[in-house]
Amino acid sequence: MERFLNRKVLLGVTGGIAAYKCAALVRLLVKAGADVQVVMTPAAHDFITPLTLATLSKRPVLTDLFIRDGSGQWNDHVHLARWADVLLIAPASANTLGKMAHGQCDNLLLACCLSAACPVFVAPAMDLEMWKDASTKDNITLLKKRGVGIIGPESGELASGLTGEGRMSEPEGIVDAVITAMIGASKLAGKRILVSAGPTQEALDPVRYIGNRSSGKMGFAIAEEAAARGAQVQLVAGPVSLKTDHPGIERTDVVSAAEMAAACKARAPQCHAVIMSAAVADYRPARAAQSKVKKKDSGLDMELEPTEDILAWMGAHKPDHQRLVGFALETDNELEHALGKLKRKNLDLLVLNSLRDAGAGFGTDTNKVTLLAPGTDPQELPLMSKAEVARAILDRLEELM
Ligand code: CTP
Repeated sequence: MERFLNRKVLLGVTGGIAAYKCAALVRLLVKAGADVQVVMTPAAHDFITPLTLATLSKRPVLTDLFIRDGSGQWNDHVHLARWADVLLIAPASANTLGKMAHGQCDNLLLACCLSAACPVFVAPAMDLEMWKDASTKDNITLLKKRGVGIIGPESGELASGLTGEGRMSEPEGIVDAVITAMIGASKLAGKRILVSAGPTQEALDPVRYIGNRSSGKMGFAIAEEAAARGAQVQLVAGPVSLKTDHPGIERTDVVSAAEMAAACKARAPQCHAVIMSAAVADYRPARAAQSKVKKKDSGLDMELEPTEDILAWMGAHKPDHQRLVGFALETDNELEHALGKLKRKNLDLLVLNSLRDAGAGFGTDTNKVTLLAPGTDPQELPLMSKAEVARAILDRLEELM
């Protein structure tokens, strides 16, 4: 199960025999859905090859702050640290822990530590006496005080042949500790969430329809992120070419606005949150022809009738325990219209899409949105991947739940 979907993990590997376990660690993180960038200290190279970790993480391993090939290039620790959602150092040697505690940064990993604004976890690994040493204890106390998560070490047989505390925790335990600390406490865990996604198609005749350009990517990203946070997701999808395989997502495929309305209305009352990200058609042909409409020399008039506004129905029938999220796409007086919609449709959160910005809107992998909730200032987000937008929306939803 992808419990850590799309999370960016900066994995620091330092010099210690437990570095051999990092291959399994990278594999588990990747299997959990994470993007892993490995940064090794120079000493770590004596214990495991960068090739192993680069192959498993599918990214080149970084070690040096400066690339000394005369090109003047360098690995940007600030950028790396900002990229990461979490910095995990495993194994963390006594030397690296000491340097971290005292703000030293004489290698790329330590420079990343100093630049990191994200949560930092370390999995210490060293011999018994080193772990018991007063300087190590003081360093751990200092790091804990600064909010660094300490995972392990555990007791057992050590590389020296001695038995005692100092063994690095097993990769499964480390991954579990990080994921639990990062998202295990999600308010969405165990909650039922309804997400609608994609376009609808309104039949004109057996072969033609009125549709729109929605790809469903935003709604699917929301469904996957909610499932990653432990929610039971009901995904009602219009005709899209996207796949889902998360066990936490139950998918229902529909075609028309009427089918989407029926599927959503049947599921909503049992849900703790409803997120209507589908681009539902506002109109459909009043009469769909039973057989293919033949071409004529004259023009073709078509009468359209409104479809049901599903979001408005949800707002009017919202149970007390439920939070309702709608989407809006406005082209003029954006904020004013969106705030009107928020109130009129009894929404708890409105995601205002911008079509003005390059990279935002239909079909792209990125989006630029503003989040509006009653009684709070608009939260304008930068251009982000749809996975990141999904996280921002669900972070706000969690605050509201
Ligand atoms: N929506 C819906 N049912 C419809 C049409 C839209 O539930 N028949 C939902 C969408 O899923 C989305 C929001 O309403 O959450 C989109 O609204 P939008 O198209 O921006 O505006 P409308 O409410 O249709 O109003 P207008 O077209 O006047 O802006």
